[in-house]
Amino acid sequence: MEANKILFFSAKPYDKAFFTQHNAAYGFELDFLETHLGPHIVNAVDEGTFAVCVFVNDKLTAEVIEVLADKGVKVIALRCAGFNNVHLETAKRLGIRVCRVPAYSPEAVAEHAVAMLLTLNRKTHKAYNRVREQNFALTGLLGFNLHGKTVGVIGTGKIGRAFCKIMLGFGCKVVAYDLFEDSELSNLGVQYSTFEEVLKQADILSLHCPLTPDNKYLICQETLNLMKPGVTIINTSRGGLIHTSNTIEALKTGQIGYLGIDVYEQEDKLFFKDLSGMIIEDDTIQRLMSFPNVLVTGHQAFFTEEALSQIAETTLHNVQQLNKGEEPDPAVILI
Ligand code: NAI
Repeated sequence: MEANKILFFSAKPYDKAFFTQHNAAYGFELDFLETHLGPHIVNAVDEGTFAVCVFVNDKLTAEVIEVLADKGVKVIALRCAGFNNVHLETAKRLGIRVCRVPAYSPEAVAEHAVAMLLTLNRKTHKAYNRVREQNFALTGLLGFNLHGKTVGVIGTGKIGRAFCKIMLGFGCKVVAYDLFEDSELSNLGVQYSTFEEVLKQADILSLHCPLTPDNKYLICQETLNLMKPGVTIINTSRGGLIHTSNTIEALKTGQIGYLGIDVYEQEDKLFFKDLSGMIIEDDTIQRLMSFPNVLVTGHQAFFTEEALSQIAETTLHNVQQLNKGEEPDPAVILI
């Protein structure tokens, strides 16, 4: 019988729900494992598995991919956009195809960045707790208008573009830096400038560029010194864009007025897990979370029904095409 099974790693209840629902139209055999894929578990992959479906923290090293090839696995289906965790050369050498989901609701991430901003500038996280204690006093909840403020956007690709449009709708002045300017955004009123100029002008700065070897610690002591005192920084992109200990120092001096982060450089040890009964050994995240003007969310910006539907649909479609011997769109196929 032809292999028809997709084996999922790092599977959460929501993965199971969305993939099961969308699979009604595809008819694959789905099997879900909670553990991440790595050398410790790869031998458990049974023969007859056509594809493994993996997420950001699964480790597809050369060693792991060699075992997958021995077991007859034909496809590595990433249910995310990034692929830095897959040893592509080994997959290529062994004839395993690798596909991904290049875009899944950029609006989901842009809207979460805005949600973080609105939480911080209107202190709704504090108000929520206060009224539950029947404390209806306003002292300490003073916010500021977004209307009329200058918003700096670093990276105006799919997510940054959606974010710019929302901020223009709020009546903000939007200044942006990208390696490539988007003429549609310029026509809408976004003003492109140099990176330094954007930092100098911004009351609020939001990061929407990918993490590359060239832009690690884009936000560090040196660049923080260029910014307006009391600047608000939002990062829904990648933790490594921000030098966390420099940021903590800037929060202590008031150079940063508010910080909202959905991503954190050491997040793979923390995020996507319930650690509520554990002792967290990472003192940096504990220090960050102790500031009243810092909001941390656990890489949830993408996490909407629309995005999960898109991820399930695109992944199953990719696997189906490869299963039928059809060539998927170049945007989704990596090898
Ligand atoms: P995209 O590829 O559509 O846009 C990225 C933009 O950044 C491009 O216009 C590119 O020219 C620009 N860019 C690259 N290097 C730059 C630099 N050094 N300075 C300024 N601009 C630069 O990517 P998309 O879909 O907008 O995603 C952006 C980032 O958002 C992803 O790389 C990822 O890190 C993050 N992300 C976060 C998610 C979350 O749940 N928190 C979910 C999905 C993506």
